[in-house]
Amino acid sequence: MDAPVPHASAALVAHSDAPPAGALLRWYDRHRRVLPWRAGPGHAADPYHVWLSEIMLQQTTVAAVMPYYRRFLALFPSVQALAAAEDGAVLSAWAGLGYYARARNLHACARAVAALGGFPDSVEALRSLPGIGAYTSAAIAAIAFGRPLVPVDGNVERIAARLFAIDTPLPLARRAIARAAATLNAEPEARARPSDFAQALFDLGATLCTPRNPACTICPWIGSCAARALGRTGDLPVKAAKVVRPQRHGAVFLLSDADGRLLLRRRPASGLLGGMTEFPGTAWRDAPWEPAEVLASAPLPADWRVVGSVAHLFTHFALTLQVHAASVGRVAPALLQDGFLRAPDAMGAEALPSLMRKCLELVR
Ligand code: ADE
Repeated sequence: MDAPVPHASAALVAHSDAPPAGALLRWYDRHRRVLPWRAGPGHAADPYHVWLSEIMLQQTTVAAVMPYYRRFLALFPSVQALAAAEDGAVLSAWAGLGYYARARNLHACARAVAALGGFPDSVEALRSLPGIGAYTSAAIAAIAFGRPLVPVDGNVERIAARLFAIDTPLPLARRAIARAAATLNAEPEARARPSDFAQALFDLGATLCTPRNPACTICPWIGSCAARALGRTGDLPVKAAKVVRPQRHGAVFLLSDADGRLLLRRRPASGLLGGMTEFPGTAWRDAPWEPAEVLASAPLPADWRVVGSVAHLFTHFALTLQVHAASVGRVAPALLQDGFLRAPDAMGAEALPSLMRKCLELVR
């Protein structure tokens, strides 16, 4: 039988020493990651860069964000430039990052900040802006404005759950973890370098205190970690059982003309993937589609062939799209009332969500 699970408070008593802020900061000074939005040592961070990266990093990895971040800055070098951009240009630059409501909030936030004359420097004022919640306001306030706050993202949650051996399952543990995390910067050394301290926590979580196989032996906080002392790094933080997403089904039609141009249409402005570009297709529903039903939904009768299927996870459901392709000499003008044609090499400028990019890949 397994040994009884020690209670979190017992672990806290066993390891009541706060982890030494200085050790973390010295580790960060030697091992900090070079990231495009990160100011060099001793340099002040640009609030626009910090904000843009934090919005992009919500639900997306550092590696996936980097090319988007660089492209965004090239297109919109300042918050004023972003505020003045067309909606479609912002959505196109965002296409592929997912969670498209974030792109719309990003644009609304840029306009609000431009109207204010710049980013506010308090956590409360930042929090009142579109798309900026508790974590993001704390991250910007700490990194860009030197406010002594500990932004609690997934990395910091994992670090705190391990340091203090908090074994209540997430998301129930979130408050207790946030309270514990808020104590991490109590020492003067941390409060003297809020920007570095916050980023040091991100780097510790991303490079050493990783979800699997944490590199405890080289961790600057090994001596203060209750999970390590209890041999429990592998099972903390405890995650609630994964939600099973309902499965939905749909079909899309990739219709090309004699010039190789593909038929596209625009989704309604509001709702899921609002305002983005897509290939025409059926509705997405719980029941799988019968082949005859699918063909009846095609934009026109043609020699449709199934080229494969694409699976995609949305927050609240999983979708499988069967992808059909056909070529015709010329697309009837009637179809162009709701749709439009684009050459494959012009697709990059379209606000084509990842789901539709995956469909396109199947015919390339
Ligand atoms: N994760 C969230 N914010 C981050 C940042 N600014 N740098 C690196 N990783 C992060």
